[in-house]
Amino acid sequence: MKIDILTVLPELLESPFSHSIIKRAKEKGLLEIRVHHLRQWAVNEYGQIDDYQYGGGAGMVMMPEPLANAIDTLSKDNPYDQIIYMTPDGERLNQQIANQLSLQGNLLLICGHYKGIDQRIRELYVTREISIGDYVLSGGELAAAVLVDAIGRLLPGVLNDETSALFDSFQDNLLAPPVYTRPADFRGSKVPEILLSGDPKKIGDWRHEQSLRRTEERRPDLLDE
Ligand code: ADE
Repeated sequence: MKIDILTVLPELLESPFSHSIIKRAKEKGLLEIRVHHLRQWAVNEYGQIDDYQYGGGAGMVMMPEPLANAIDTLSKDNPYDQIIYMTPDGERLNQQIANQLSLQGNLLLICGHYKGIDQRIRELYVTREISIGDYVLSGGELAAAVLVDAIGRLLPGVLNDETSALFDSFQDNLLAPPVYTRPADFRGSKVPEILLSGDPKKIGDWRHEQSLRRTEERRPDLLDE
C-alpha cells in the first residue's frame, strides 16, 4: 500500500513513522509512506500557500492553487483510490473505517492548517473527510499520523499471529478483555485462576464474557450498533 501525505509541516511526521510497527511495515515493503511539502507548490517565491478569507474574519485559509497543483502532479504517476482531508468536521474515525481503508492501494492524505482548506478543493478533489475525534488540533498532521497507524497495522503480514489485529478492541464492536502477565501474584493481587487452567475453551469463553462486561460498562453504545 502507498500513502502520500501533503503537509506544510513535514517535520511533524518524521518520528511517527520511524518506529515500531509502522517502521516494520515499511521495512517489509508492505507500506510506502511519502511526505510532501506543500510549499513546493507555493504561489510565489515567498512560499505563500494561504491567504485571508473572503468575507473577513480571523485566520488564514489554504489556497486552492497549491493544493490542486500538488494533487494533479502527485496523481499523474499513480491515481489515488481516495483523497482524504483530515478535518474536525469529517466523519469520525473508527475501526470499520480503518479496516475499509486498509484494503485500498493508494491514498493521499491532506493535512489542513489555520482555518482549513478552500472549500472548492474539498468539492473538486477530496473523496473522503475524516476526523479523529471531537476536538480541534492545530493541524491535520497528528490526525494523519493516527490514521496511518490505524491502517498500517492492519495490512496483511505487518502483525504476527500473537499480535493479530483480529483480537483488537472494536474488531467485533467489543472492547478487549483484561490481560495479565507474570508474576501470577503481584503484591497479593492474583491473576484470575481460569487463565492458569490451560483450558483454551474455558479461557476463550471467559475472555468473551469479560469483553462483553467491559463493553456494557464502558461503551454501551457499541452494543447498540
Ligand atoms: N485537524 C484539526 N483537528 C482535527 C481532528 N480532530 N481530526 C482530524 N483532523 C483535524
